[in-house]
Amino acid sequence: MVSGGGTNLQAIIDAIGSGKITNTQIVAVISNKKDAYALTRAKENGIEGICISPKDYPAREDFNEALASKLEEYAPDLIILAGYLVILPKQVISRFTNRIINIHPSLIPSFCGDGFYGLKVHEAVLARGNKVTGATVHFVDEGTDTGPIILQKAVEVKFDDTPEILQRRVMEEAEWNILPEAVNLIANDRVRVEGRRVRILS
Ligand code: GRF
Repeated sequence: MVSGGGTNLQAIIDAIGSGKITNTQIVAVISNKKDAYALTRAKENGIEGICISPKDYPAREDFNEALASKLEEYAPDLIILAGYLVILPKQVISRFTNRIINIHPSLIPSFCGDGFYGLKVHEAVLARGNKVTGATVHFVDEGTDTGPIILQKAVEVKFDDTPEILQRRVMEEAEWNILPEAVNLIANDRVRVEGRRVRILS
């Protein structure tokens, strides 16, 4: 599920292509934005891409139901939020417990939760003067960025970084690596959730 450029989606597509991710097929890409470049990437790779936008429904509940029934139809083993900027309906979260993962561009629990998305995360990291940031892949629960953490990777913050430069480094050095890695671990049954902790089986 995507909202934007889809570079994380591309990293997953590429990792499936190169064999870094095994046992995995992308059945569909769902965007909340019609013009998301991620949908073009889906099309170029022969993957079904659809748009389900809250704007196309009279009430939020109608959108929630449309999204939930579409997901039910695809019946995925795993839902990947790869830069998806919509809060998932509660019925979807409870239906797919520990089967939805998200990539967040900071080291959770720093710089996460409500209001921390996109460039805002990196602006806050720079404003606080952090020397290290990173990215986190976690399971999605009913909170914002509160689910069990699967993988994290640290990234250096440089003094002259702009939010855009830092965002790019976090993507290149962390997000595009740990998101495909997490997908591969889950696809190969190597991830166990034990309370709030995640055990990676070797
Ligand atoms: C990434 O920084 C991701 O961590 C955040 O949104 C961005 C998505 O980028 N949640 P892309 O659409 O994968 O290029």
